[in-house]
Amino acid sequence: MLELPTGFLFGAATAAYQIEGAAGTDGRGPSIWDTFSHEPGRVLGGETGDVAVEHYHRFREDVALMAELGLQAYRFSISWSRVQPDGRGPLNQAGVDFYSRLVDELLAAGIEPWPTLYHWDLPQPLEDAGGWPERATAERFADYAGAITSVLGDRVGQWTTLNEPWCSAFLGYGSGVHAPGRQDPAAAVRAGHHLMLGHGMAANLIRSAGHKVGVTINLYDVVPASEREIDLEAARRIDGLQNRFFLDPVLLGSYPEDVIADLADVTDFSHVREGDLAVISTPLDILGVNYYTRHVVTGDPANGDDGHGGAGGEGSPWPGSEHVGFLKGELPLTAMGWEIHADGLTRVLERVAREYPSVPLYVTENGAAFPDEPDADGLVRDPDRIGYLDGHLRACRSAIDAGVPLKGYFCWSLFDNFEWSWGYSRRFGLVYVDYETQTRTPKSSAYWYSDLIRGRVAV
Ligand code: NOJ
Repeated sequence: MLELPTGFLFGAATAAYQIEGAAGTDGRGPSIWDTFSHEPGRVLGGETGDVAVEHYHRFREDVALMAELGLQAYRFSISWSRVQPDGRGPLNQAGVDFYSRLVDELLAAGIEPWPTLYHWDLPQPLEDAGGWPERATAERFADYAGAITSVLGDRVGQWTTLNEPWCSAFLGYGSGVHAPGRQDPAAAVRAGHHLMLGHGMAANLIRSAGHKVGVTINLYDVVPASEREIDLEAARRIDGLQNRFFLDPVLLGSYPEDVIADLADVTDFSHVREGDLAVISTPLDILGVNYYTRHVVTGDPANGDDGHGGAGGEGSPWPGSEHVGFLKGELPLTAMGWEIHADGLTRVLERVAREYPSVPLYVTENGAAFPDEPDADGLVRDPDRIGYLDGHLRACRSAIDAGVPLKGYFCWSLFDNFEWSWGYSRRFGLVYVDYETQTRTPKSSAYWYSDLIRGRVAV
């Protein structure tokens, strides 16, 4: 029987636009996800986060449920548009009050608040001014970060600046499958830089105020389909764009040379100013790792079998990668079509610990979507999710045994919620939500996770 170390932190995660609803309440302004989800054809079934799981109105009930399950920490995000609707200027007190009440409620329940400042929902006025491809957006983000952390900082010990900047940059501005829905590879690369610059500026402010700070990056184990030279080259390229494009600037203070060369036809990197990389590589207290699956890649796209075809064409999140294809892998898939590959998590954690300066790691997201439904007794049995979580927690254990400084794990997600361009069609929750009645029903995985936290079961 394996056990995770004493003091290992167990939590669950959500994000503002995916759960809060109350999109027009108490002075909240529109974000790029409000605009995008209301555009026809962007989100499956035309669904939006207008109502979501009504967490804005139900947060007390939701925190009570977290306490019942024994969560030790709750990772949530702050909607920038709720606390600073124009993306600049004075804070909207009603919006700030919501997060202040949420933090108080969590602390009263003995649950550590782990807020993320940016989980993809840029205030629309800032997108109208050019969005993340513009340098000024990084400055706006730092201002917002300074303002909100100084209000909540007396009660919140650790802050995360960004969630998955790869998605904001390359899905938002490259493939356009996420808000704001632009397809401009050069803009995507600039967006990536300005997101990291905003992170670095904010991290400086937060640290000098005496708080801990981290950033959450989505990492993949990138595996070549074979040992053939073209497959190895494809894996190098995708690893560069997916992982090292962010890890190197943030943790080493430089862009990887090979990635700069791969992107030569897209950009000359003249948007990077002297001193930027020093800001971006401000020392971190925490590195958050989000892990769901691995990428198996080939340099012969005709062999690709997961529908991507050549990966680098128009509307691709992989600029310059026309000669790369993705393969499905041989293990079972989740409802997202993602291969369930727990060993990849061990490999990712070990790689970060080996190749980058030692920084405490947390898995800030890991979980799976399955087509859950209540049975005749009203129970939601999700053995597949228990299997997924069990396997990935064992993968964490293996990484710790190998010396990785992994300090905690957050399951994605506490609730079924708005899964971005998939709308409500993909359920990631430990807790089932009936969207008609907003009833919350813990799935069997929630009880399993709860027992695990309380030491009644081990992985
Ligand atoms: C990553 C994102 O941070 C989260 O918002 C999303 O719902 C999950 N992955 C699942 O796709």
